Amino acid sequence: MTSAPRTRVLTGITTTGTPHLGNYVGAIRPTVLASRDSGTDGFYFLADYHALIKCDDPVRIQRSTMEIAASWIAAGLDLDKVTFYRQSDIPEIPELTWFLTCVTGKGLLNRAHAYKAAMDKNHAAGSDTDADVTAGLFMYPVLMGADILMFKAHKVPVGRDQIQHIEMARDMASSFNHLYGEHFVLPEAVIEESVALLPGLDGRKMSKSYDNTIPLFAPTAQLRKLIMGIVTDSKAPGEAKTTEGSALFQIYQAFASAEETAALAKAYAEGIAWGDAKQMLFERVDREVAPMREKYEALIANPAELDRLLLAGAEKARRLATPFMRELRHAVGLRPLAQAFAQKAASKEDKPALSTFKQYREKDGLFYFKLVSPQGEVLLQSTGFSSPREAGQLIARLQQQGASALAEMRQHFPELLPQNQQWAEEELEKIIRNN
Ligand code: TRP
Repeated sequence: MTSAPRTRVLTGITTTGTPHLGNYVGAIRPTVLASRDSGTDGFYFLADYHALIKCDDPVRIQRSTMEIAASWIAAGLDLDKVTFYRQSDIPEIPELTWFLTCVTGKGLLNRAHAYKAAMDKNHAAGSDTDADVTAGLFMYPVLMGADILMFKAHKVPVGRDQIQHIEMARDMASSFNHLYGEHFVLPEAVIEESVALLPGLDGRKMSKSYDNTIPLFAPTAQLRKLIMGIVTDSKAPGEAKTTEGSALFQIYQAFASAEETAALAKAYAEGIAWGDAKQMLFERVDREVAPMREKYEALIANPAELDRLLLAGAEKARRLATPFMRELRHAVGLRPLAQAFAQKAASKEDKPALSTFKQYREKDGLFYFKLVSPQGEVLLQSTGFSSPREAGQLIARLQQQGASALAEMRQHFPELLPQNQQWAEEELEKIIRNN
């Protein structure tokens, strides 16, 4: 058995609103599906620090955090498999934000679309360039860079409006790596072309800013009422209807199978009454949502349980963030003074510090080994062997074959966490490259 290093996928959800059907079809459902792929390692988080940039209503932030967390869990996110956490539970994120702030050109941030849009609006209104622009809005891309770079994400699924932010995160990673050595992975944006953009009640894109949304977990009666309010044309029952440009039809299509969709198209052509078509849509949506709604309502009724789940996720995330931040602090020179002169400053010519294998014998008479990072973190801890030769042979295989050897001898590392496995694989790769 061999294992390719898993692709790490990370994305954040800003906690300012109530999840609606558009969020479900465009983000929640595809992400939950993708997270079941065993070739990926999913990191999903509630971007509540980002929410503060857009919203100064504490009740709304708290409510939205609860609703989004409950929605993702109710929609089937497997919390044992992915890492699901709240950004503000990771104190390393603002710490990394500062490090990145110090390597990010102000000019780069001047070019951010969101900041430019705010300036343009002020110019158009004849106001001061930066009127009502907070430093938070200006720094938004750096905080987002910290979210991504902290967890060495390879792929970041986002909407088109966020592509520039991922490019900026790459710039920050390159600048930092150039100055202090290879610490960060350069992330890539992933744009899901195939997912539908759902229209809202009025036919425009479903969005909180148009006030045309259908909340994902509206109670059944409200869901029905909202669906009955979707705009249609004025064609009478019996008159043929066109599917093109019909918001009702598009929403139906996002939930239905190909056959169900074809059947509705046929009914349109045969002049189905709008009221009946709406009833069909309501039943189809409710069929998908009802089982999740039960779970959602149970979670909303038990916020302490949600807190517990989010804190467990944060703990999992911090098993990576805490040692990585320690590594980064060391890299920039925030070090214990006793170490200060022992190591010269890193330069581009230096080989990166490598993790090393340590072999030793315990009181039980058995021979053990471990892989230790340059900062002293134990990445792999073996079980005991009766001879030093046996341990030595396994070490040699790890040094030559890396991840595939690790997968084959996985049983010798019973306490290895998935996150540390990825880290150990990366370290083994560096050892191989340096051989
Ligand atoms: N800015 C993103 C949005 O508005 C949310 C977000 C915050 C995010 N941090 C992130 C997305 C990191 C991806 C990765 O959609």
